[in-house]
Amino acid sequence: MPKDWLEWHDLYNTEPKLQQRLQIVREYISHSLDASPPGIIRVVSVCAGDGRDLLGTLASHPRAKDVHARLVEINPQLVERGRASIESLGLAQQIEFINGDATISSNYVGAVPADIVIVCGIFGNLADEAELNRLLGNLSFLSKQGAFVIWTRGHSNGIPYSETVRRFLRESGFEEVNFKLTATGDMGVGLHRYRGENLPTPKEQQLFVFSGVANKAR
Ligand SMILES: C[S@@+](CC[C@H](N)C(=O)[O-])C[C@H]1O[C@@H](n2cnc3c(N)ncnc32)[C@H](O)[C@@H]1O
Repeated sequence: MPKDWLEWHDLYNTEPKLQQRLQIVREYISHSLDASPPGIIRVVSVCAGDGRDLLGTLASHPRAKDVHARLVEINPQLVERGRASIESLGLAQQIEFINGDATISSNYVGAVPADIVIVCGIFGNLADEAELNRLLGNLSFLSKQGAFVIWTRGHSNGIPYSETVRRFLRESGFEEVNFKLTATGDMGVGLHRYRGENLPTPKEQQLFVFSGVANKAR
């Protein structure tokens, strides 16, 4: 069991579930970039980890130079790692990696509304369904009308939690573009479009509470 979120990232080296999830997430990011109109593409990544999903995609994507992104992550070592990747890709002028609290709306000011919103590894770390609904409601601050939203949700004890997420998204004004389960069968990865209006000021200063811990990550 990983003792913290830094160690949790080591599981990408060994766990097929996480490796397959990453592959699907990158495929969805790539699709969203391909589908974006010419010009700047704004991206935000909430609880970004070391940013390997977005940065790994940009390493070989023809729209990389159009991307203006802000990644928000609370673990300083993961941020350091992400910043090193940004430097090596030559994207430091356009991609910011903020070491801060991704649950606080002020950390997105200047970077939203975004065309692509990445919320991976979060939905399984919320206290309950009410908190998931609250976060989905608050995505109206981060997302442009029509924004792509990329998310993941693991299953546990045979409970297909990603089905709950898909239902809540449907009920909250999101349109499903794609949904896949990893080949391991226990991790859902979704690509939705936000069809509601953007909210230029947040409804709440705190968008959600991240209550998960790394050694029980779902
Ligand atoms: C399950 S990991 C997912 C990381 C990344 N999105 C991915 O899919 O690889 C959750 C991440 O959220 C970060 N995190 C937890 N609470 C946070 C907060 N309040 N603000 C920013 N990041 C947070 C952790 O440090 C960890 O890197």
